[in-house]
Amino acid sequence: MKIHTVILAAGLGTRMKSSAPKVLHSILGKPMISYVMESVPEDSPIVIVIAKHSVAIEDLINSRKISLSYQQRQLGTADALKDGINKINTKFDFLLVLNGDTPLIKKRTLKKLIKSHIKSENDITVLSFITTNPTAYGRIIRDNSRVKCIIEEKDATKKEKDIKEVNSGIYAFNHSTLKYLRYIRKNKKKGEYYLTDMISICYEKGHKIGALCIDDEDEFIGINSRHDLHKAQKLLQAQINRTWMEKGVTLMDAESTFIHPDVKIGRDTVIYPNVFLEGKTRIGEGCIINSNVRIINSIVEDRVNIKDSTLIEHSKILSFSIIGPFAHIRPDSKIGPSSRIGNFVEVKKSIIGGNTKANHLSYIGDAELGRDINIGAGTITCNYDGVKKHRSIIKDGVFIGSNTQLVAPVTINKGATIAAGSTITKDVPENSLALTRVKQKNIKRWAKKKDPRGQIR
Ligand code: UD1
Ligand code: CA
Repeated sequence: MKIHTVILAAGLGTRMKSSAPKVLHSILGKPMISYVMESVPEDSPIVIVIAKHSVAIEDLINSRKISLSYQQRQLGTADALKDGINKINTKFDFLLVLNGDTPLIKKRTLKKLIKSHIKSENDITVLSFITTNPTAYGRIIRDNSRVKCIIEEKDATKKEKDIKEVNSGIYAFNHSTLKYLRYIRKNKKKGEYYLTDMISICYEKGHKIGALCIDDEDEFIGINSRHDLHKAQKLLQAQINRTWMEKGVTLMDAESTFIHPDVKIGRDTVIYPNVFLEGKTRIGEGCIINSNVRIINSIVEDRVNIKDSTLIEHSKILSFSIIGPFAHIRPDSKIGPSSRIGNFVEVKKSIIGGNTKANHLSYIGDAELGRDINIGAGTITCNYDGVKKHRSIIKDGVFIGSNTQLVAPVTINKGATIAAGSTITKDVPENSLALTRVKQKNIKRWAKKKDPRGQIR
């Protein structure tokens, strides 16, 4: 059986009150439309119907067999499907149609739909669900086991409005039924061509129409407003968090833990409240992630402790390291193993070797640090001359006293010591002491001289 898929995603999304296309709004860091794309079986090519102003979707298209079709005017779901079909240039037996605004749909549910569609030999199968609040969905009107039509809220009678089985916006249409798309007339109340009208038209033509009713309404939440978006995010967040807890991760407060769908976490890791693990972040085993931490697209190896209020972006923290509190690890940094980046330390595009410590108030940018180095409080790599960025190289076993400025480009060779308060502008040879501060002068009884009535304290 050859399946082709069309995702309808050109709607204006007016209820979102946004300048961005609705399907590009994100849930846990990923645009809605990406979830829908990922739910489609791998062997099915996809056409996504989008509006002209949604070109940003192009950036999300990866290597899969996905093409875009542009709907000129948003004339409704039936019109959108027509546009989508026009773009298909391969043969198929049936068409899987999905709404781009139903992001929690699962792959296994679509597989079920496909199986059921084939097994029951339906011409059309609608994926339906039971909901306590059917207001936003089309009602499924049945004639025994067959489906007769779908009635939208605006057109429903009072009795029809009471029906709790509703349309998910996901269907399988046999190739032979698609010719009836052009029979659909504009809905008078909304001025749109409703795809749902296909059901009554095909029913009257004697086609076999079934509905596969799934008993989990959470999966089919359609996002029409910011309220729906929030609800979907809470549902997905709960699912993801439950999965990680089942896999051996402790969450102190699942409600305030935000783990993006592509994140991986090792067992026995403990996560404190208000933590955001984003993008493709990987956390190892036995880590502790304290409160108010955000980690974006980073790798954190085993037994690392990320202390409170720390931000880590596109970086790698090797095992047994301790980062924070209040540290900022900026992109392209690699730290550890067993290293320590303490409070108010910013690291940018730097490699920091094993067992090296920068415990307090420092800026390490465009630097390469070896092993067993001690960076004193207030050390700054002066990497920018106003035009270009320069590198600082600090070799193994170096000791840098507090309040040191390293004016890059500069190399501090193995085992060297920099005296506190130095401004280093030249390379420092191995095992030597570099000291650039002015000699201290003490003026005795100075307070008395300044003010003869003054007391010497
Ligand atoms: C639609 C269904 C409803 C179903 C619900 C499920 C129709 C008429 N109604 O209602 O029965 O219960 O989905 O969530 O189909 N779109 C286009 N072009 C357009 C209009 C819409 O591409 O001209 C896209 C939208 O981007 C969206 C999808 O089609 O992804 C559904 O459109 P929307 O307006 O959200 O339909 P609903 O009113 O939710
Ligand atoms: Ca919708």
